[in-house]
Amino acid sequence: MKQSLITSFVRLFGRVPEVVSQAPGRIEFIGNHTDYNGGVVMGVALDKTVMVALAKRTDRKLIFASAKSGEKIAVDLDDLKKQEREYNWVNYPLGVFKYLIEAGLKADCGFDMLDCSNLPAGAGLSSSAAIELASAFAMAKLYDFQADLKTLVRIGRKCENHFVGMPCGILDQGVSGFGKKDGIVFIDCLTEDFSTYPLPSNCKFWLFNSTKKHALVDGLYAERHSECMQASKVLSEGGESRPLRSFNVDDLEAVKDKLSDVVYRRAKHVIEENDRVMKAKELLLAGDICGVGKLLNASHESSRKLFENSCEELDFLVDTVSTMKGVYGARLSGGGFGGAVMALTDESFSQEDADKVSEIYEQKFGKKPMVFTCASGDGAKVI
Ligand code: GLA
Repeated sequence: MKQSLITSFVRLFGRVPEVVSQAPGRIEFIGNHTDYNGGVVMGVALDKTVMVALAKRTDRKLIFASAKSGEKIAVDLDDLKKQEREYNWVNYPLGVFKYLIEAGLKADCGFDMLDCSNLPAGAGLSSSAAIELASAFAMAKLYDFQADLKTLVRIGRKCENHFVGMPCGILDQGVSGFGKKDGIVFIDCLTEDFSTYPLPSNCKFWLFNSTKKHALVDGLYAERHSECMQASKVLSEGGESRPLRSFNVDDLEAVKDKLSDVVYRRAKHVIEENDRVMKAKELLLAGDICGVGKLLNASHESSRKLFENSCEELDFLVDTVSTMKGVYGARLSGGGFGGAVMALTDESFSQEDADKVSEIYEQKFGKKPMVFTCASGDGAKVI
């Protein structure tokens, strides 16, 4: 992929890039909507990545080219403002560049940029975080800006929150930055501590992408975010403002009368999900994969009933796959409202088994899900 990116760069810009970087997509292993509530979450970086090639220009223009569409967008270095909807893909590297400058990067000239990817599009594997992290690494290198990994991860999230306008937590950028091959990233989102633990060697991940995307997915994510904030506000009453992470189920029961039923259920999901993540970490370290699988299923059940960010297609995929031989557990992975189901399986689960799930799904919904198995990979780097 690197060679073909360089070849395309030369064709488009007439010279070789000075820097090439890459950053992986991620699976949300467990910890659903816990990140922006100061909670805990685990994710796995994949061996599928976004790559970015960059070279300095002599003027003050930033040229963004897309390998996918072939289009080129020019932005003035002295006017880094959000691009219109049709050029939304530019906002990820552009926002990252803006916040790198705010963090101290000195840009005396513009750049040419080309990206490419082997991350399946729209599969809920967070290609946006991957492009943010790959851009951050390439830009920091190109302008010789010294920043540690956590700073680059935070800049990726800042871009998403304040430039793109999506109120996400730090899961996607954290895993894309701190991921390790054969490792699982554990994030404490309150302290922003990132640690990696070994993945059990005899397991596989399968992704079943429903290819369904709720039309209002961004609005629904923001709505869940706001419901969680309402709950933490009520729970914090009389003291300093604290995120949902700081409370347990007893605290929640004590204020139940002050919350609407919806807000109560959202908060219950997040509080219990934090407990599941802590338990999953303990069981993973103890080698109890069956126990971990049960927690994955419980997480999905809670999404289905309490957080209501699942949908018929995802529920059907989880129900179908989790009864099959060799499957430890399955759950929706990521924001929800469509997207993908992740299944953790042993090595006996085969492509044939996955195809069987596809067929059963097709009989019900009239089309096949996108199915693939994926391996873990390393976090963002210059290559
Ligand atoms: C999306 C967001 C993440 C996280 C998950 C849900 O992937 O980008 O920050 O909130 O949804 O857990």
